[in-house]
Amino acid sequence: MSFPSSIRITDVGPRDGLQNEQAMVPIEAKIDLVNRLSNSGVAEVEVTSFVNPKWVPQLSDAEAVLAGIDRIEGVVYSALVPNMRGWDRAVEAGVDKIAVFTTASETFAQRNTNCTIAENLARFAPVVEAARSTGLPVRGYVSCAVACPYEGAVAPAAVRDVASALLDMGVDELDLGDTIGVAVVEDIDRLLSACSRIVEPSELSLHLHDTGRAALACCLHAMQCGVRRFDSSCGGLGGCPYAPGASGNLATEDLIELCRTIGIETGVDLDVIASASAAIESVIGRPLSCDADSGG
Ligand code: HMG
Ligand code: MG
Repeated sequence: MSFPSSIRITDVGPRDGLQNEQAMVPIEAKIDLVNRLSNSGVAEVEVTSFVNPKWVPQLSDAEAVLAGIDRIEGVVYSALVPNMRGWDRAVEAGVDKIAVFTTASETFAQRNTNCTIAENLARFAPVVEAARSTGLPVRGYVSCAVACPYEGAVAPAAVRDVASALLDMGVDELDLGDTIGVAVVEDIDRLLSACSRIVEPSELSLHLHDTGRAALACCLHAMQCGVRRFDSSCGGLGGCPYAPGASGNLATEDLIELCRTIGIETGVDLDVIASASAAIESVIGRPLSCDADSGG
């Protein structure tokens, strides 16, 4: 086991973070957040979601946010897409990449997307086909990859089966989500080993929430196992409106600090991330899990 020389970071704060805020965050603050993250050196910013606005009203301004940001060359601006209606909106708004999202838990699929896992996958088939024909890359999320807020522990083999269906459909990238942030190092081991038959760890993305405060340890272990792509959110912003009790994502600041300590290149400027966290913290009016002032 050895560490990679560099990792790729997607900051999902504007989407995964702001989808969970009780009050609607003003559009100018969202645009400012995306612009700050764009300037930080992260490879990708998950800007918003083209989901049903009745389900996630917090992101009902998706088009306006994408229209308002300053795009930096080389940064990928992505968004969640649940169905063809979302695809049409996302393309019209000019996203660089889309993310379809399903789960390894039937109950979560119902609560989050109002359908079974099989129905969810069937909705994605035309979306992935359309994306491939226009050359847009597709990320495929499998959430509840460790545990479900309604069903408890989720079997790694169930995650592998859903991941495998997404790969067969043609997604470019698999992203395994610990939606409720309860993973420990052994869970990551089991997950990677179950998925090793279908995908190399170096091709996987990990999306860890940090409810149990073990996300950083899980990242460290995943890096040693060959994972090089991680999602995080500035300041640890986040949660999921359909996963009660789940905290925010692993903080981008923590991930950068970890990498700096062990000599892994991220290309991300900690001060810029800290300024993004401080700015959004002042808008949402409560302290983020990662103290923006200390950058850690
Ligand atoms: P539905 O209401 O069952 O959809 O939503 P429907 O097909 O029955 O349509 C009902 C109405 O909604 C129709 O309008 C559609 O046009 C409209 P009407 O005919 O009544 O006027 N509609 C839309 N409008 C705009 N954009 C759309 C859209 N789709 C339908 N895209 C759906 C089904 C899946 C769309 C809904 O359940 C939904 O939007 N769910 C998303 C919930 C969500 O975003 N959850 C958080 C995601 S975070 C996550 O999943 C985990 C992750 O972070 C990884 C991790 O942490 O593990 C990714
Ligand atoms: Mg998430």
